[in-house]
Amino acid sequence: MKNILVTGGAGFIGSAFARMMINRYPDYNIIVYDKLTYAGNLDNLLPIKDNPRYAFVLGDIADRETVRRTIEEHEIDAIVNFAAETHVDRSILDPDAFVKTDVIGTYILLDEAKKAGIERFLQVSTDEVYGSIEEGFFREGDPLEPNSPYAASKAGGEMLVRAYHVTYGLPTLVTRGSNTFGPYQYPEKLAPFFITEAIDDRPLPLYGDGMQVRDWLYVEDHADAIDLVLHKGVPGEVYNVAGEHEMHNIEVTRLILKLLGKPESLITFVADRPGHDRRYALNCDKLKALGWERKHSFEEAMAATVKWYLENEWWWRKIKTGEYLEYYKKQYAERLRKARKGSS
Ligand code: NAD
Ligand code: DAU
Repeated sequence: MKNILVTGGAGFIGSAFARMMINRYPDYNIIVYDKLTYAGNLDNLLPIKDNPRYAFVLGDIADRETVRRTIEEHEIDAIVNFAAETHVDRSILDPDAFVKTDVIGTYILLDEAKKAGIERFLQVSTDEVYGSIEEGFFREGDPLEPNSPYAASKAGGEMLVRAYHVTYGLPTLVTRGSNTFGPYQYPEKLAPFFITEAIDDRPLPLYGDGMQVRDWLYVEDHADAIDLVLHKGVPGEVYNVAGEHEMHNIEVTRLILKLLGKPESLITFVADRPGHDRRYALNCDKLKALGWERKHSFEEAMAATVKWYLENEWWWRKIKTGEYLEYYKKQYAERLRKARKGSS
């Protein structure tokens, strides 16, 4: 492998992966292919923008012609597909783009990868495809029971990946990662949203009773796992990627407030997310057998993340304008109004 196409590489995890790969492999060329949706951001790639082994292509993974041309012009050997609509709450408000990108876009990429004889196709998937688990841990062979339109679209994309391996012999790999956090994450997901809202002393809208459990994974550990699976994974196989650090949402929220020296009175319980999965938890022995281990402790990584947002207001303040505010209004205005009314 020499030329790696990183689709969705201007997003949160994809950009961490692109930055890591450029520094780690001096003989690899990293070609980022991204539609630059609201979540795509070229600022995430600033640290590598002048590297001669990095190139950026503006394109939609569902646009067959641009995908085909990019694979051909850059003589792509491997594809790592991060490109997706990724926010559960947005998928509940409007699933359309999720099906188009996460299912149809994945199909187009697979189809062009097959025609080009790509050496490796790695699909970055999510623990959400399994659905919720009250006790124990999901393993790779467990049935998929996705509950949100986001999770269902990711599961649909994965099923096509499987079919392209079984039917056409495309050398595919799938990773299913858990809740990822770290620098450069668009401030709509719990960690960056609550950190940036708390910096401004604004209410933190916690859904339901705040007792949902997520498994928290630092972005560098996630990117590291994807690199390992890309190089050492067995084609056709699926690998769970866990942070092995389960926490209730309310505990994560309290930790963020503590790290920022802000009062817990900012926590505001609001109406729950419809179909809210109660708990995600993964067994990742299969990944560990390839040689992966987490390098960052949760506490250290969350402290570093909070510090990054404090030091990089230039990055997130300009995001929290325009379309972001429209979305904020749709998602939270009524919830917060009702919560205030209930408490008065
Ligand atoms: P993100 O929302 O930060 O980034 C997604 C990127 O994909 C953006 O740069 C966006 O512009 C691009 N994109 C969207 N639609 C596209 C299209 N049609 N064509 C080309 N590019 C397009 O997402 P993220 O959090 O970095 O997630 C990356 C991948 O990892 C996704 O596939 C997601 O499902 C998966 N994942 C995320 C997490 C998490 O906690 N964030 C956990 C497990 C798996
Ligand atoms: O588990 C992996 C998944 O993690 C990824 O596949 C998704 O792309 C990523 O968005 C994330 O999904 P979640 O729905 O778990 O993440 P989110 O940050 O949206 O929410 C985390 C938890 O916090 C969840 O239980 C909902 C809750 N929450 C979230 C927001 C944004 C709140 O209570 N209030 C909020 O405002």
